[in-house]
Amino acid sequence: MTQATYICTDGSRRDVDVAIGSNLMRAACDSGIEGIVGDCGGAMSCATCHVFVEDRFLDRLGAMEPNEDQILDFTAAGRQPNSRLACQIVMNEQLAGIVVRIADPQV
Ligand code: FES
Repeated sequence: MTQATYICTDGSRRDVDVAIGSNLMRAACDSGIEGIVGDCGGAMSCATCHVFVEDRFLDRLGAMEPNEDQILDFTAAGRQPNSRLACQIVMNEQLAGIVVRIADPQV
């Protein structure tokens, strides 16, 4: 089991256990983290799992699929260079300890 840290919309930090192979949207929803909605269940069609990834982890993420890149242009909070969809961040050993800030608002 690995851990991810979510910086919530109120500024608090929540450490959550994330199984290898699980994604950060699912882990957040299963752990009751507020601010990540995940309306589409990870189908890359809702953009309600928008997060800002701490810079030191950006290089460790897999390449963005064209669909994710497109959806990020329609996020409610506005896209930033470190924007990603949490449903597309699949936990692996290299991402252990990843820190993401939850975008606000999501809708
Ligand atoms: S859960 Fe819908 S885009 Fe991530």
